[in-house]
Amino acid sequence: TKPLIYISRKIPKEIIVPYETKFEFRMWEKENEPVPRRVLIQELKEVDGLLCLLTEKVDKDLLEAAPQLKIIANMAVGYDNITIDSANDRGVVVTNTPDVLTETTADLTFTLMLATARRIVEAADYIRSDRWEHWSPYLLAGSDIHHKTIGIVGMGRIGEAVARRAKGFGMSVLYHNRSRKIEAEKELQAKYTSFDQLLKEADFVVSMVPLTDSTRKIFNREAFGKMKSSAIFINASRGGTVDEDDLLEALQTKEIKAAGLDVYTEEPIRGDHPLMNLTNAVCFPHIGSASIETRTAMLQLCLENLAGYFYGDGPKTPV
Ligand code: GLV
Ligand code: GLV
Repeated sequence: TKPLIYISRKIPKEIIVPYETKFEFRMWEKENEPVPRRVLIQELKEVDGLLCLLTEKVDKDLLEAAPQLKIIANMAVGYDNITIDSANDRGVVVTNTPDVLTETTADLTFTLMLATARRIVEAADYIRSDRWEHWSPYLLAGSDIHHKTIGIVGMGRIGEAVARRAKGFGMSVLYHNRSRKIEAEKELQAKYTSFDQLLKEADFVVSMVPLTDSTRKIFNREAFGKMKSSAIFINASRGGTVDEDDLLEALQTKEIKAAGLDVYTEEPIRGDHPLMNLTNAVCFPHIGSASIETRTAMLQLCLENLAGYFYGDGPKTPV
């Protein structure tokens, strides 16, 4: 019998079809709504593999409800939605989707930077609401990006791809990371600094770190206090790296100039959240990797991981 795979969201049929000879699939039937946890627990009783999204919290209780489960293919590069220790304890393999989303996510991170610095959302709202009366010297004037200093916290694959874009804008690149990235230092003249030094010197402070116990809320009151008052904070990694109350205060009191956010502590964040109603915050709904090409590639990689595990020489991208 073929291994049984549960897919926790409706995904395009044509992605699954090539794998139907290898696997039996069951799938949650909605595209824009996560599977309720009790349904997921029920479904997991007999499955051998799970293809899930970051909307699924895969913890010890869920794993205990899945006695046959051997592999979890997470459709994301980040895997903080999965309790890795519990998966390890049960011998369940976890895979993620690195590489295929690097350039797309770096594009979005840079978009967020440009949109925030040049007040693009405000500008689009301005004209749409028919408020444009005159060209004026400082109308919607923002901050320059070119030749400024970017400070990248978390110099992984996506961080480096952001640094390459920054280089094209003539920016100076500072970075902070657990380990030095000698190649990036050579290729991009990126300069390694302490976290504090980066906060003090960067015009753009960009969070690209995965969420772990050591990165939780590293962007807090103390960190915002060290940034320049002209600094722009960008978060395209995980909301949990930021203390959102402290960020709100830093933006309201103009301790920092602006923030561009793609991710939040609680997702979905609601439209009436105070952060959503600041003119100096530009907010996107976690769309870092959201190009059609890349989302398709991520799903395909999940299926390749499952096939590699059950039929090949192991999963392609285990965490
Ligand atoms: C998305 O946030 C991802 O981790 O891929
Ligand atoms: C503005 O449009 C300019 O010509 O400087």
